[in-house]
Amino acid sequence: MTQTSDILAVLRDVCGQSSKSYPIALHEPDFRGTNAWQYVKDCLDTGWVSTAGQWVSQFEQSLCRFTGAKQAIAVSNGTVALRLSLHVAGVRPGDEVLLPPLSFIATANAVTHLGAVPHFVDIDACSLAMSPSSLAERLDVIGERRDGQIYNRESGRKLSAVLPVHVFGRPALINELQAVSNEWGLPLIEDAAEALGSWVADEHCGLIGSLGILSFNGNKIITTGGGGAVITNNVELANRARHLSTTAKIPHPWDFKHDLVGWNDRLPNLNAALGVAQIEDLDRRLLRKKKLFDKYVNRFASISGVEILSEQPGSTSNHWLVSLRLLADDPSEAAAARLNIIESAHAEGIMLRPVWQLLNQQPMYSDSPHGPLPIAEDQVCRLLNLPSSPQLLESLAK
Ligand SMILES: Cc1ncc(COP(=O)(O)O)c(C=O)c1O
Repeated sequence: MTQTSDILAVLRDVCGQSSKSYPIALHEPDFRGTNAWQYVKDCLDTGWVSTAGQWVSQFEQSLCRFTGAKQAIAVSNGTVALRLSLHVAGVRPGDEVLLPPLSFIATANAVTHLGAVPHFVDIDACSLAMSPSSLAERLDVIGERRDGQIYNRESGRKLSAVLPVHVFGRPALINELQAVSNEWGLPLIEDAAEALGSWVADEHCGLIGSLGILSFNGNKIITTGGGGAVITNNVELANRARHLSTTAKIPHPWDFKHDLVGWNDRLPNLNAALGVAQIEDLDRRLLRKKKLFDKYVNRFASISGVEILSEQPGSTSNHWLVSLRLLADDPSEAAAARLNIIESAHAEGIMLRPVWQLLNQQPMYSDSPHGPLPIAEDQVCRLLNLPSSPQLLESLAK
């Protein structure tokens, strides 16, 4: 297992000192050097801790400024942002939504929360995101245009959206996916939960389709504890999302009138204060993440049989998680090597993680419709995510 010992040597070099009692996490929050204390204190001092308050709208404005979005709606987490986006894009109970099998469970769960059915389409091995050619091929096989709608001719269900994911911060081939979706008249919703600070040419991830979502969960590049946002350039969709996220209440100084069955999705002010403090620091974080990525690329260059995944030409990754691919020809050989690497790294407190298990192999989704998934099935056993916190660079400097 010289490959394992070579990989561990690189990880020790890049991540610095670790032990079982002082582990190196995959991705940790960091509030040092930010105004987080001051902004959270303002919430406590003023009593504005809940879903109304200046930090929520400030956070939304900061997200718009950073991403270039016309509108941002801050909500309680990324899963909620997905459910809200899919709903305003027109997904209804009994519909099918096309999504990749390689994602966090929330992508499929948000579809299910609306009573719709996930339909899995293969990924491409470079971006790890939904493959535009697999989407086109799948739609050619199952798509049927009827009465101005698209149906799955096999299940009889309406196809109502395409939901690609920007995996680990590396942008999907989103313009190509958008072109296929447009051909079929299907709205594209981008799961950009992991992609704050990632761009395709000069468009921020999440803004190419009708709506995009971000997550500010504890392991993300900025965290509000828990939190998420819908971003979009479509003002009408944004207004509907905002209205539904705040119980569909008609604004009035005292009266309780609601015109739809809405949700209570809004991000609390306390959490938004943390978000504002970190978005002020985002450019610095992105620079440090790029440096850490470059360091991994450089150190792994001399190790045979592995590669660090980089972004597609023309796109910029936020390098949220740095991914290592094991290049063994035989996937089961790669899977065995990966397990050995994970066990050895965990034994010394380096918290590597495998990528997610495929969604179609989770028990809730084992009967969900899907196209052929050869690339996802091959890639899923050969990918590892490496410790990627931007603050790791500080231990490097020592
Ligand atoms: C790809 C992806 N989609 C959706 C989510 C859901 O976000 P949250 O955990 O904020 O609900 C996450 C992350 O946590 C994610 O990584």
